[in-house]
Amino acid sequence: MTRHLLFTVVAAVIGSAFQHGYNVGVTNAPQTVIEKFINETQYDRNGVGFTQDELTLVWSLTVSIFSIGGMLGALLTAVISEKVGRKKGILMNSSTVITASILFGFSKMAKSYEMIIAGRFVVGINAGLNSGLAPMYLTEISPVALRGALGSTYQLVVTMSILLSQVLGLPAVLGDEELWPVLFAIIIAPTMIQLLILSWCPESPKYTLLRKKDDAGCRKALKWLRQTDDVNAEMEAIKSEIEAINRAAKTTCKDLLVKSHLRKPLIISIVMMLSQQFSGINAVISYSTAIFSSAGLNKSMALASTLIMGGINVLMTILSMALVERAGRRTLYIIGLAGLTVITILITVCLSFTKTGAFFAYSSVVLVFLFIVFFASGIGSIPWFIVSELFDQSARGMATSISVTINWVSAFIVTLMFLPLNNLLSHFVFLIFTGLLVIFLIFTIVYVPETKNRTIEEIQATFATARRAPSYRSTQQLTEN
Ligand SMILES: *[C@@H]1O[C@H](CO)[C@@H](O)[C@H](O)[C@H]1NC(C)=O
Repeated sequence: MTRHLLFTVVAAVIGSAFQHGYNVGVTNAPQTVIEKFINETQYDRNGVGFTQDELTLVWSLTVSIFSIGGMLGALLTAVISEKVGRKKGILMNSSTVITASILFGFSKMAKSYEMIIAGRFVVGINAGLNSGLAPMYLTEISPVALRGALGSTYQLVVTMSILLSQVLGLPAVLGDEELWPVLFAIIIAPTMIQLLILSWCPESPKYTLLRKKDDAGCRKALKWLRQTDDVNAEMEAIKSEIEAINRAAKTTCKDLLVKSHLRKPLIISIVMMLSQQFSGINAVISYSTAIFSSAGLNKSMALASTLIMGGINVLMTILSMALVERAGRRTLYIIGLAGLTVITILITVCLSFTKTGAFFAYSSVVLVFLFIVFFASGIGSIPWFIVSELFDQSARGMATSISVTINWVSAFIVTLMFLPLNNLLSHFVFLIFTGLLVIFLIFTIVYVPETKNRTIEEIQATFATARRAPSYRSTQQLTEN
């Protein structure tokens, strides 16, 4: 680990993963304050305000349009990363943050809630692009031994900035009627820092050689990142990797759908993305304050609980970086899904009895915390990188693009549907997630192979031969033969 590499990692995540996490969390605490602004604006214009249902719809749209932008950004990743570059793509992406920041900052002054909605869409594009570009850049500048750890910094900064957005969103900080535009517009600050310091860092060496065919530029970037002149070994490794890519037959989008050894891992990748979003995590993160209030906590205790939740999310993400290499992906995922299934049932039971006493109210808060523990221990991080483990270089980009887009689509559906469904079904809404979790659990047990400590060839062999994911023992026999 060199100083230059650390500097580059910080520069890469400070404005990218930050925007992803901050804008997911920022709508949580100041919901009532901004809903009031929306209704008052509408009243001033028309002489009639919104009904509760209309207001809920406008607010749900404000929260969830972020994910529509995210989908668009995720789809654009493939083109921008190849044509513009990894680092340049991230730098160019700053323009969306500047636009969104201006829209947010002046929305109150202009008496226009449409500007908030537009800003959420634009900053969503930023986050979608970042979620593809930044992990790619991080993996490509890392030496092999640090690849997992540095790649995980993306997810870590996402959880940290969710927490930061919730602290800043407190009524006593920026989440009041006067200052909420600042809370939203402040996203421009880390992006300005990123523009300043990431410009000093080199473009990804792999990209420089593979797409720009710039041998000297690649060597120069490596020398700077590793802070040594002796980069011949790594240059050779990159060159042979590129030769392998050029030798392999180009995989088309159609191949992914028709060739069984590609279709199976694609379905697994997609279902794992679906299970991450339809576990109910976005419902819990976006509306935790409302859940805590309906559990009978007063407002300040509800906000404090939301912050504790963010803290648990950060700590468990750090812990999961170690767990995922020891326990294995498949095991961790099954434990997580099973845990969430039980917790969603218990949450429903507790919320049914909150009126009968403090015990059930506090239990439901504890259960929300446990939800985060089980989610962050594996379900939060594994789907992002398992796609890369299931596919080789030739199909990885396309498979990633498809699965990441599916992830954003699911996030959109969940955030849009949760509040109306919650109004309709009240706390029984969590039983919908229970049902989905059971389906994902069965799918994982039957189809998802363990990928820990196995090469791409070994993993792909399981898709070519076996109908079901073979147990660990049978793959050992396979390799012994
Ligand atoms: C919106 O504002 C109007 C006028 O002040 C009020 O009558 C109405 O109840 C408000 N709607 C909601 C959902 O609070």
